[in-house]
This record gives sequence, C-alpha cells and structure tokens, in this order.
Amino acid sequence: MTTLTYKHKPLQLKPQETVLDCLLRHGVALPYACKAGMCQACLVKVVNCTASEESRKWIKPSLQALGYTLACQWVPDTDINVELPELADFAVAATIRSLRRLNPQVLQVILDIADPRSMFAYRPGQYLTATNPAGIARAYSIANDYAEDAYVELHIAATSHGEFTHWLFGAARVGEQLYLRGPAGNCFYDVREDAGQPLLLAGTGTGLAPLLGIVNQALQHQHTQPIHLYHGGRSVNQLYLVDELHSLARANPLFHYHPCVIEADPQAAGAVQTGRIEQVMTRDMAKEKLANYRSYLCGAPAFVHGLRKKLYLQGARSEHIHCDPFTERTVVPD
Ligand SMILES: Cc1cc2nc3c(=O)[nH]c(=O)nc-3n(C[C@H](O)[C@H](O)[C@H](O)COP(=O)(O)OP(=O)(O)OC[C@H]3O[C@@H](n4cnc5c(N)ncnc54)[C@H](O)[C@@H]3O)c2cc1C
Ligand code: FES
Repeated sequence: MTTLTYKHKPLQLKPQETVLDCLLRHGVALPYACKAGMCQACLVKVVNCTASEESRKWIKPSLQALGYTLACQWVPDTDINVELPELADFAVAATIRSLRRLNPQVLQVILDIADPRSMFAYRPGQYLTATNPAGIARAYSIANDYAEDAYVELHIAATSHGEFTHWLFGAARVGEQLYLRGPAGNCFYDVREDAGQPLLLAGTGTGLAPLLGIVNQALQHQHTQPIHLYHGGRSVNQLYLVDELHSLARANPLFHYHPCVIEADPQAAGAVQTGRIEQVMTRDMAKEKLANYRSYLCGAPAFVHGLRKKLYLQGARSEHIHCDPFTERTVVPD
C-alpha cells in the first residue's frame, strides 16, 4: 500500500489511483475540471518527495520550480507528501469589469488585472484557469491580447448543472474578484511557423474565443495567405459576433468568415450557410490542398476529434493540426 500524507494525515492510495482521486475520495476539496492534464485546476505542492515526470511535464517550468505538479496525472509508486496550492504563489488577481450576453447562451466576460505587472504573458488563443470566489477552478480560452487591450476577454457558455457557470450566470457581479493562472495550450498564431501558410480555423460554440484571438493576431501580423474561419451552431441563436465578423471579412480580403448552422433559417439566408461545419467545409475545400493548410480546431471534444481525423484523412498533415478540445469535468469514481 502506498501512503499519501496530506496535512500530517496518512491516506491510503488504491492501486493505480491518482493523487487527485485519492484526495477527493477522502473529502479534500481540491479543484479539478478535466482529469486529463489540460485545465491545470488540480495543482498540488509536493513536499519532500519527487512527483512523477508524467505529472510535471504538463506545467510550465516556473511552477515546477515552486514544487507544483498535476494531481490528476500522478499515480505514485512510493509514499508521498502533498499540500494544497497557495493561490498567491502563482495566481493573478482579476476583477470583473463587465458581463455581456453575446447570445442567449454565451457571456462575454471582461476582466481587469489588479496589478498589471503580475500578469502572465500569453498568446491569444491559449487558455487560463480561472478560480472563482468559491474556489471552483475551470479552464477558459483567451479571446484577446492583454498586451494590446489591457484587459482579458473570455467567452463562457451556460451549462445546465455546471458549478462555475451556475455561479457566473447567476451570482457573479461586476467588481467581483477571480484568480487567474496560465497560460497553457498550443492553439495560438505563431508568426514564424504560420506566416506562409493558409489557415483553417473551425470551432463550435465558445470555441470561437480562441479562434478570434488567432484571427486577430494573424491580421495584426499581416498574414499573407487566406484565413478561413468556420463557426458552427445548431441554430442562428447559437452563433455570435456574426455582424462583427462579416465586417472584419469585408475589411480584410484574405479573411473569410463561414458561419454554419444545422437548422436552416430562411431569415439568415445569405449570411449563414446551412449544414454541419464538416459538411460545409468539405464542400468549400474540395479543390484545396489541405496539406498546405495549418488548422486550428476548438470547442466540443467530439467535434474537435472528429474533424481532426477527417482533415487528416483528407490530406492535412497531423503536425499542422492544432486542437483545443473543451474537455468537461468527469465524474469522480466511488
Ligand atoms: C482547454 C479548455 C478550454 C476551455 N475553454 C472554454 C471557453 O473558452 N469557454 C467555455 O465556455 N468553456 C471552456 N472550457 C470548458 C470549461 O472549462 C468548463 O468545463 C465549462 O465552463 C463547464 O464548467 P462548469 O463548472 O460550469 O461545469 P461542471 O460543474 O464542470 O460540469 C460539467 C458539465 O456536466 C454537467 N453536469 C454537472 N453536474 C450534472 C448533473 N448532476 N447532472 C447532469 N449534468 C451535470 C454540466 O451541465 C456541465 O455541462 C474549456 C475547457 C478546456 C479543457
Ligand atoms: S489538469 Fe488535472 S483536473 Fe484538469
């Protein structure tokens, strides 16, 4: 039996159990969201022992140096000792400047950073982990460039029983404080690698947030190749920023905006195409050589993984397909 010591209390780990599952099983309120190494909500501080390479490799070196590792990726094979993280060690305090509905399901959240010098550097399209006043931590993609705007913009979708979103859509008020950690993720515009290639960006729902960050960066760097943005929803109500993106496309001939909806809407005919993103894209791209494209896919995991496979089978190079599946929290096993 391997022992996990937490606050001087020995807890027995089950065979192949992660540190996160063991702590949760013993009633420790450690935030977590994805259990997949992506959201970085489940950081723990390692005390007088060494975390596995697997659990450390996901986080940036500055956090590793402070002794942090991901509890959901750590299956210890020796006795260990951990503490909960100190938010002040690495998190940035932010306050809600504004909350605006982008459509009935999505809120645009604008955050001011209390001390701008403490803000971490990131590339628009990467994600951060936000912790709310109740200590619930979730990953959200960053839609804008803090260095340019001096605020952080997130797009957050309502869920039926979600903890963070229940708070955000119900109790959250302007002026309330959150803590932000980051950045993480590989979905961002890289001027050295992307500059000479056409870009294919596709997302469902709030998957638009990171893609918007990428589009703005590409345009700012005067990208010389076509940029195609596909944004999909079930109905027109699930799209957002449609007028703004059409305007952006009119002002930038290389930028092409393709909003797609599954349910046909006669009133939106002309502005929105009917069909799943995969279908509309396949029609549009039939004559394109996907091997030349760099793709960014964000949003619901089933959509992201499905489209990744499809693009690969149609000739896209796997190393040129960047994915950000918005993995949802998984249920804690008993
Ligand atoms: C890399 C990454 C980037 C992300 N970026 C974004 C983003 O930009 N925008 C965005 O909106 N989201 C994003 N997400 C998803 C986000 O992190 C959260 O998963 C999401 O907001 C839901 O959090 P929550 O606390 O409200 O729901 P949770 O409490 O985590 O619940 C998850 C889901 O389970 C359902 N659920 C919970 N309890 C029950 C129950 N008892 N019965 C039935 N259903 C239940 C909820 O309705 C919800 O759909 C991202 C995720 C990742 C991993
Ligand atoms: S990274 Fe561990 S729960 Fe998401």
